[in-house]
Amino acid sequence: MKSTITHPPMRASRGSRKDPIPGLYHQRELKYQLKTYEKMPVTIWEDSRLASRHIAQSIALAIRQRQQENEKIVLGLATGSSPVKIYEELVRLHKEEGLSFYNVVTFNLDEYYPMEPDSVHSYVYFMHEHLFNHIDIPKENIYIPDGTISLDDMDEYCEWYEAQIEAHGGIDIQILGIGRTGHIGFNEPGSWEDSRTRLVKLDAITRRDAAADFGGIENVPYRAITMGVSTIMRARTIYLLAWGEHKASIIKEAVEGPITEQVPASFLQKHPNVRVHIDLAAAGELSRIKTPWKVGICSWDDDLICKAVIWLAFQRKKPILKLTDEDYMEEGLSDLIVDHASSYDINIMIFNRLQHTITGWPGGKPNADDTHRPERAKPAVKRVIIFSPHPDDDVISMGGTFLRLVEQGHDVHVAYQTSGNIAVHDHDALKYIELMQEWLDHHGVEDQEWRKILRKAERFLRRKDRGDMDIPEVRYIKGLIRRGEARAAARFCGLSDDKIHFLDMPFYEKGGIKKMNIEEEDIQLIVDLLEKVKPHQVFAAGDLADPHGTHRLCLDAIFQALDRVKDQKWYKDCWVWLYRGAWAEWPLHEIDMAVPLSPTELQKKRMAIFRHQSQKDRPLFPGNDEREFWQRAEDRNRDTANKYRLLGLAEYEAMEAFSRWKP
Ligand code: F6R
Repeated sequence: MKSTITHPPMRASRGSRKDPIPGLYHQRELKYQLKTYEKMPVTIWEDSRLASRHIAQSIALAIRQRQQENEKIVLGLATGSSPVKIYEELVRLHKEEGLSFYNVVTFNLDEYYPMEPDSVHSYVYFMHEHLFNHIDIPKENIYIPDGTISLDDMDEYCEWYEAQIEAHGGIDIQILGIGRTGHIGFNEPGSWEDSRTRLVKLDAITRRDAAADFGGIENVPYRAITMGVSTIMRARTIYLLAWGEHKASIIKEAVEGPITEQVPASFLQKHPNVRVHIDLAAAGELSRIKTPWKVGICSWDDDLICKAVIWLAFQRKKPILKLTDEDYMEEGLSDLIVDHASSYDINIMIFNRLQHTITGWPGGKPNADDTHRPERAKPAVKRVIIFSPHPDDDVISMGGTFLRLVEQGHDVHVAYQTSGNIAVHDHDALKYIELMQEWLDHHGVEDQEWRKILRKAERFLRRKDRGDMDIPEVRYIKGLIRRGEARAAARFCGLSDDKIHFLDMPFYEKGGIKKMNIEEEDIQLIVDLLEKVKPHQVFAAGDLADPHGTHRLCLDAIFQALDRVKDQKWYKDCWVWLYRGAWAEWPLHEIDMAVPLSPTELQKKRMAIFRHQSQKDRPLFPGNDEREFWQRAEDRNRDTANKYRLLGLAEYEAMEAFSRWKP
């Protein structure tokens, strides 16, 4: 697999003597860099955890230096998912390595408005949860914009906030995340360069991105108080952070694009001491990663050639076999044909490579020559585990392949990693509670305990305020609703009940919409199943763009579990295939297996997705896409088939794509 996913067991093999800092990405494909499109310094990391640890340690060093000089240090802090691991490491440094925060003063970038400080949605709550409750910072040194200030007092308050920053000598180190609108703090597109702390309106995209945290977009405030662009720009050092594929296009605009108020983060290009820290997924659209041949001289290998040729074919709007020397020359790929082979030979090589990814036999074709097939012919009947992070990812992302594997006689198991209970509407839960109550009434069941629980859940739902967290009784019912739907869909795909496993991973049950970390018990559940089934094939969601983080955590747990079983005999025969979740597809050059679906198979896949009734019409967490899941799945599968067609391969109705993971 050529994916960008990293996790601890992979690091050792990826490191090199040239990588003194663990997790720092070393771009081996670029032999010599001739130019850069990047207008501010960018550090790319393979792993956001290691990046965060590194940044936290730089901050710790600065804190300690100031302590030696008997001086305070002023930190500008952000909320959101980007800085969370930095805070985790700072807490660890405090607890385990004696780092004190007695000389630290902090100013937070922003707060929703209106917002009570004790609300779970407030940034006050967030900061205390993630940092302040766990360190020894004096309470009076913490400044967070106050979401309870009246509108009449707002201007004066914002001036006061600015004055406090000045009075403390200005911000030494500012941490920033970046929104998909390009906002820093809550300076949305249109924010002036000289803007100061003020009340602002939130952009529609920003509100949609926050919808999951608030349990629905209708609960997200329309306004916020934020430090201005000029407040941020006055900081002496700035770290801008971005992790994940969903940040890739805005990072490109901020780093390579023109300075414009339409992308407020682009103002950072003018800062004398800024550094952008991103992971490989967030760097995916930068020229040096996406088209390194435009930036310098490449070390060509088969994977890079494949990436370049696919890019070239789309650029020139030609199928691969029609690309000429001239096409290569005109698009900056002359060194490829000069150093390697003629365009004719390269075209054939890449055409064949793509051709060999296509198979109607995702579990391998029995008694066939498998030299050029993505899967092995033997054993003819394979034991397979499909891991599905949520109860519907299996059918949404690989429903067609799931159906084929069963039809072709493999011993298929499906494991639902989490209950998915947060994504069930209240009205659906109430429907089932009332159904149970009426059913008990009808049968004259007297059991008071049962009735008490049902009444408690019913009362909660009827009185629930927007954005309230569900009580455990309600979460459990919601989980059962999804469990029933998953069972129906898996049975539709041909599985018997003993092949359907519900792992209900504890990290998900313990967390709210924001997820907790993977723990030992989560990993052990997966290890147990792997050891029981001893699979030849594992399918897992290799998703980097999941907005809630659940897919990433589920994948992490699988990787850690695989690392624990790697010395067992059966594991030598186990191949791991990664599919993408509902949000995105693999780039074509990373596909190792493409399973074509006929129109009838696509229809059947749709029926399996329809079994997830609670997610139909209007799912609670649709992400930034208004389409229903079955529509997204079909559009995506058709799009993959169409791309193969445009490259000059056979025309199919739809295709599901997989990338093979090799540690
Ligand atoms: C948070 C803030 C925002 C976030 C940005 C990215 O205090 O000011 O600018 O940094 O929306 O959010 P995440 O990190 O959640 O992607």
